[in-house]
Amino acid sequence: MRLEDVQRVAVLGAGNMGHGIAEVAALAGYDVALRDIEEAFVRDGYEQIEWSLGKLAEKDRIDDEEADAALDRVETFVDLGDALADADIVIEVVPEKMAIKKDVYDEVVEHAPEEAVFVTNTSSLSITELSEVTDRPERFCGMHFFNPPVRMQLVEVISGAHTDEETLELIEGLAEEMGKTPVRVRKDSPGFIVNRVLVPLMNEAAWIVESGDATIETVDSTTKYDVGLPMGSFELADQVGIDVGYHVLEYMHEMLGEAYRPCPLLSEKVENETLGKKTGSGFYDYE
Ligand code: CAA
Repeated sequence: MRLEDVQRVAVLGAGNMGHGIAEVAALAGYDVALRDIEEAFVRDGYEQIEWSLGKLAEKDRIDDEEADAALDRVETFVDLGDALADADIVIEVVPEKMAIKKDVYDEVVEHAPEEAVFVTNTSSLSITELSEVTDRPERFCGMHFFNPPVRMQLVEVISGAHTDEETLELIEGLAEEMGKTPVRVRKDSPGFIVNRVLVPLMNEAAWIVESGDATIETVDSTTKYDVGLPMGSFELADQVGIDVGYHVLEYMHEMLGEAYRPCPLLSEKVENETLGKKTGSGFYDYE
């Protein structure tokens, strides 16, 4: 597959990252098939894209015509076969669990066009292991966007053990077409580069509060105003989704050891399904 031949991108998963990536692809001029397992999920994802495009237009980042044209390029699906028909690139953005992702790829290989290139937006999981459940491990790599995709510049392009050079160059080119800056990650290790740094930061912030050494507000104001991060650690956890950070940590804990043990403050939020902005409350309230 050559970059100039890419016309249609299938995005599997319409959650926070899925709808954001679909929006970025549509803004770059690609036809987008946005798919999730329930009608309500895809409808919600589509509405989020509509909201976000409206916001970008309101802030003069794009004009109204661009917003309308991007939305027109997004089609929604529940049926996987229909979503994958004519797809040149398949971007998988389902929950951060190895078993779920493997089940999705088992089905994807049955329906995807033979020439299609597969990428995963996994935040931490092994690209090599995932690629091996497909029929094309050499045309499979990681394409890791950051939240919110429409505003974050970086994309990690991660090589699995079997990924060929042509695929990595294609996906780097695609990221650039989407207005992003791709960074190639050669070593397929848990959390890659950014999450290996960022997720322990969120976890450590939670341990500080858990141990009673400081409040959430003190940790956030210190990291934001004194250290100069764009968001406090707890604000960022709410932005990303506490469950997302937690699943990354669980995997890093399993693969890399004790230093990555998730703080109970995070697991409690996951159990109570207060996951941050997307559920209306997390460490802060958004309603
Ligand atoms: N689409 C459109 N508009 C959006 C939006 C979206 N998806 N998300 C937020 N906005 C809007 C807000 O509603 C707000 O609008 P109002 O002012 O009308 O309320 C506006 O954008 C804020 O934009 P500003 O440019 O004024 O704000 P900012 O300068 O603070 O930038 C930000 C916002 C870019 C999100 C910035 O805070 C930032 O960079 N935060 C850090 C995010 C980050 O680190 N992300 C990576 C997380 S790690 C990850 O994703 C990896 C993983 O695998 C877990």
